[in-house]
Amino acid sequence: MGWVSLLLLLPLLLRAGDRSLCTISFPFIQVCGKTLTQGRILGGQETTLIQWPWQASLKYKTHHWCRVTLIHSSWVMTAAHCFQQNAHDPGAWKVQLGSRTIKPHKLSFSYLHSRRVTEIILHPFYFGGPPKDIALAKLQSPIRFKRSILPICLPTSTTQFENVTMCWVTGWGRIKEHEYPRKPWNLQAVELPLIDQKTCDLYYHIGTKLPPFISRIYDDMICAGFKEGKKDACHGDSGGPLACEVKGIWHQAGIVSWGDGCGRPYRPSVFTNVSVHTDWILRTIKSNTFSLMPSKLLFLLTLQLS
Ligand SMILES: *[C@@H]1O[C@H](CO)[C@@H](O)[C@H](O)[C@H]1NC(C)=O
Ligand SMILES: *[C@@H]1O[C@H](CO)[C@@H](O)[C@H](O)[C@H]1NC(C)=O
Repeated sequence: MGWVSLLLLLPLLLRAGDRSLCTISFPFIQVCGKTLTQGRILGGQETTLIQWPWQASLKYKTHHWCRVTLIHSSWVMTAAHCFQQNAHDPGAWKVQLGSRTIKPHKLSFSYLHSRRVTEIILHPFYFGGPPKDIALAKLQSPIRFKRSILPICLPTSTTQFENVTMCWVTGWGRIKEHEYPRKPWNLQAVELPLIDQKTCDLYYHIGTKLPPFISRIYDDMICAGFKEGKKDACHGDSGGPLACEVKGIWHQAGIVSWGDGCGRPYRPSVFTNVSVHTDWILRTIKSNTFSLMPSKLLFLLTLQLS
């Protein structure tokens, strides 16, 4: 009886062990935010994935829909509004990692770095529009990290970006309001100054009749861009990261959420402030990640054998 149940259990145990080994050999806290490249590119230009290896495309059926960032070998983060009506149907979504273009060439073996989504978790207080425009998606199987696939760090303290003034937005979206992304749909990067929530709220009241006590920019939002407009994150970039380098390590300060037009004066891009949600993110990942430690596995095996 003992042997029979062991034989039945074995494949299950081995699979579980395999999965936990992956998370053990890649503790995401330690490998995050470091790119394997020297030097950097300049604003508003095409860029390589090795410089932004956490950047991925979220596909609905076969279409590029939003951007996501890799924060763990099995988890990506994006804006809640990206899932809209289809959060109940994780099977329709896919994440394409390790590809510089949203339409990878058939011979590039990009499917090796593509994963189905098995779980979609929207922020519990997201009600169809910002604030709380944040969501997590679990990948069907963990992704193996390599030069072009690495996670970005989450902010660990609220003062972390205190002395940071310039951050980067990367994406495949439009550069100008009436301009569509063009072939070959390569990744673009733009450097933007951070704007705190209060200043941004002031800007967003300019040119409106809205009284100042009615906020347009809520507590869990931050902005980035120039007062006079011009460079911006723009449409089609939803869900993507606002990434800031702090002491040589890249952290995700924001998630592209919304904006008013594109590159207009006093209308900088608005992001979900990730610092506000770090606790929720870590708690959600922890409570939805099954892991059986090898020590427990051995214990179970000896239990069966004895
Ligand atoms: C920001 O700069 C000030 C002055 O140099 C310093 O005291 C403070 O510790 C810095 N903050 C962070 C988070 O590095
Ligand atoms: C983001 O949220 C944190 C935590 O509430 C806050 O300390 C920080 O100032 C916010 N960032 C901006 C730029 O407003």
